[in-house]
Amino acid sequence: MIKQKPMVIGHRGAAGEAPENTLASFALAAEQGADGIELDVHLTKDGEIVVCHDYTLDRTTNGSGLIVAQNLADIRELDAGSWFADSFRGQRVPLLSEVFDLLPKGFFINVEVKHAYEGRMEQALLAFLRDRGRLEDVVISSFDHKCMRRMKQAEPAAKVGLLYASNLVDHAAYAQQTGVDVFSLHPHYHYIDKEDVDGAAAAGMAVYPYTVNREEDFQRMTDIGVSGIITDYPGRLRKFLG
Ligand code: G3P
Ligand code: MG
Repeated sequence: MIKQKPMVIGHRGAAGEAPENTLASFALAAEQGADGIELDVHLTKDGEIVVCHDYTLDRTTNGSGLIVAQNLADIRELDAGSWFADSFRGQRVPLLSEVFDLLPKGFFINVEVKHAYEGRMEQALLAFLRDRGRLEDVVISSFDHKCMRRMKQAEPAAKVGLLYASNLVDHAAYAQQTGVDVFSLHPHYHYIDKEDVDGAAAAGMAVYPYTVNREEDFQRMTDIGVSGIITDYPGRLRKFLG
């Protein structure tokens, strides 16, 4: 049997080489031949979905404080690039809609929900994906598995994934006991082996380990047959896979 190459999924874009979760980072991932990207989302005070990893603006912008305590207009004033390198000065905290506008339709997008915001994120994100007609090709994932279950129950057409960093005794069985149809497993790459991947495949689930940056780990993930690899260096992974 010919083994399929895993998809190249740029973590926060191409976070190793550009300021994470900015349009520059997503554009670079695409340029480097990624098949898709992973990004993280939060809600602003006025209910807009923005792309940022942390709950606060301190680490990746020249602002500070909780995202959810600030309105979009104020967050948009901030510089989200110069903390990484001066050449990226002027990058902004993107709206989720801007990322979708930037990338072509067939490009795989994995939206990681960092917080449910008492259900407001679920509603906002599902409404956004419905409006865009993207429910069926975007994978929503989270460490908050109850949130993923609620999203799937609210919108059966949504594709949801479980993110985790534990070496579960039976990865596929864990997903199945949520009682909803889980599209994908997103394990930490340390805690996944061939048996886990085979178990997921037999149960009809994709496996997207994170965050894999070294060549020896690209090799191991490829050998065990994962569906896609989430990496800070999509260019390196693309070169490795050939
Ligand atoms: O979605 C994979 C990975 O991004 C999960 O961890 O902290 O990098 O968002 P984190
Ligand atoms: Mg993430």
